[in-house]
This record gives sequence, structure tokens and C-alpha cells, in this order.
Amino acid sequence: MPIRPVRGHGSWLVDEDGAEWLDAYGGHAVASTGHSHPDVVRAIAEQAEQLLFYSTAVPLPQREALAEALAERCPAPLGRVFLCNSGAEANENALHLARRHTGRQTIVSVRGGWHGRTVATLACTDGARYEEAARRAGIPLSRKVPFDDVAALDAAMDDRVAAVLVEPVQGFAGARDCSPAFLAAARRLCDERGAVLLFDEIQCGVGRCGAFSAAEAFGVTPDALTFAKGLAGGLPIGAVVASPMLTDALVPGDLGSTFGGGPVPCAAALANLAVIERERLIENAVAVGEQLARGAKSLGVRKVSGRGLLLGLHVDRSAVEVQRALFARRVLTGTSTDPNVLRLLPPLSFSSREADLLLAALEEVLG
Ligand SMILES: Cc1ncc(COP(=O)(O)O)c(C=O)c1O
Repeated sequence: MPIRPVRGHGSWLVDEDGAEWLDAYGGHAVASTGHSHPDVVRAIAEQAEQLLFYSTAVPLPQREALAEALAERCPAPLGRVFLCNSGAEANENALHLARRHTGRQTIVSVRGGWHGRTVATLACTDGARYEEAARRAGIPLSRKVPFDDVAALDAAMDDRVAAVLVEPVQGFAGARDCSPAFLAAARRLCDERGAVLLFDEIQCGVGRCGAFSAAEAFGVTPDALTFAKGLAGGLPIGAVVASPMLTDALVPGDLGSTFGGGPVPCAAALANLAVIERERLIENAVAVGEQLARGAKSLGVRKVSGRGLLLGLHVDRSAVEVQRALFARRVLTGTSTDPNVLRLLPPLSFSSREADLLLAALEEVLG
């Protein structure tokens, strides 16, 4: 992107020349409460001053409070929390839990899904370059089923399948939302065949899609889900929130991470979650998401996919060209693996006025 940001506030970035840019990309869905929210910044500074770091060798109140806060915000029985440092690491651990619990190795994932670039997640991420890299490294690939295809999922699930890994709203594929019927079928098939259902909510979770978790938004509860990106508003963090079924047999040391659950990212995440609640940002994401979808359609956008503030605008021309024309107007948006889909993933605090500014810029570009 053609900007070198030096400052940020809310949905705005300031470049080296002091010019302001409207950020509908949100630092890749990370700036959930806006850039440098004062509460998050204060929590980081205060915690850093008190105790910068200690590992999981000791209990920490911030870690315990964050685990409680996540368990409270996810549907039962998701109540066990493992904290790490990134999205891929969270998925890697969720896959590990599923394999350990079932004693099976095969993973089923969905075409268009993006799950990370570590060893286990690379094998599940869709895309020729990732599959080729996994193949060269000798990593067994996941079985990939077409998007939202219940019959193909049914056919893929034999007694070797440890887990089905799904992004309820696929981010990189262009904010493609699975149908609730597909997710419900995945739940039923996992139960029938003794497999574990995993939701990758790294892009679509933490309030982005109409509820705190996509599981709640879609009304389907997996056996574990993963969060990262927007959880701490900008500090590296990842979380697996799992059913006790997957964790009861664990003993200390089975999962671990030196930096995971450190006091500073936990303090940042707690402050960030408090802002999401106090500023009613989930409700805001739904309302502003609807405004953007309505406005985009009135400008001739063929279709709007996704939910809340993870939206795919299906345009009748190159999304990269639209993105570039918006850059020229100092507006940041994302693209996707679909050449005709422009992706919006702004802060959950994106205001109605900012949505109007984005739509006005889009009107100039599409008009
Ligand atoms: C859905 C999804 N899963 C996993 C990841 C990997 O997260 P990270 O880059 O923090 O490892 C991403 C990152 O873009 C993602 O969008």
C-alpha cells in the first residue's frame, strides 16, 4: 500500500507528510477498536511499567482474567483457553488438540480457506503455491472440499478424519460467508463420524461478524475456535478456546509457549475487550456494515458478501484497480483471491460518517 504511516487514531492513519488516510483495511482486521485506542495504549504502558513479562511458569492475574473473559464470551461448552502469539500458532495448536483427542491424522478443510503458513496450517490453507510448498516439504495435505458443499463434506469424512477446519466467513477468499446450513451439517457430520469441528475465527471473530464469536453469529458451536488479529487491538496474540472434551487429558507441558499469555498482550486484550463492550462496537459493526452494503449496492456493486464489518464488494471490474483508485483518494481497502472482490475490514468503530466518506470515494471511482 502506498503509505508510510507514522500515526494512527480511530479509523485514520497519518502519513509522513501529515496527510490523513481513511483506513477501511484496519491493519488487516487487527485495529478492532481503532488505531492506538487510548484505553489500550494506557493498559499496555501501565502493565509494562508493573511487570513486562513472566512466562507460564507462574500464574498471572492478567492471563487468568483474559481466559475468563474469553470463556464468558464464547458459547458453552467452549471454556478452556490456551494463549499464544499469532493466528497460525493458535490454529496449529487447535489441530494438535484435535489429532491428540481423536488419535487420527487427516484434516478436512474448505476451498478458499486461509489458515496460516506454519507446517500444520500450510497443509490446510488453500492455494496452489501453499499446496506446492507443503508438498515439497513432505507435509500431508488436508482434504479440501468445495466451498459450502455439504455433499462433498459428507463424502470426505471417513474414519481417518480428525477434524474439519472452517472459516465461517472466509476472509482472504473475499469475505465469503458459509451458509448456516453448511456449518450445521459440519457439526452433525463431525458428531456422527467422531471428528472434531474447528472454527478459524482469526479474521471473522472478536465481534467482527455480528456477535463476539462467529460461532454465536451462525448459531453453531464448534469443539474449538481460534482468535488472533483483533483480540488485543495491535499486540501479537492468539487464543484457542476449546471444549473441555479436547483438553481434559492434557498435562502441564503438553501445550506451551514462552511468550504466550504474557502480561502485556493480556492487559491489552482485556482493555480492548472492555472498549468493544463499552462502545457497543459489535452493534456498531452490524449497523455500519449494513449501511456500507446498502450504499455499495446503490452504486451498482453487484453483490455484497460477508457479515458485519468483514465485507466483500463484488465489482464488475478489477478489484485491484478499484483499490488503486481509492488509494489515490487516500482510502485504504483490501483485495482478495477473487479478482473482482474488494474487501472491507475496517475497525469495528468505523463510524457512519466514515462509511459515507468511503462510499463517496467509491462513487467517484465506480461512477
Ligand atoms: C483466517 C485466518 N487464519 C489464520 C491466519 C494466520 O494468522 P497469523 O498471520 O497471525 O499467523 C490469518 C491471517 O491472515 C487468517 O486471516
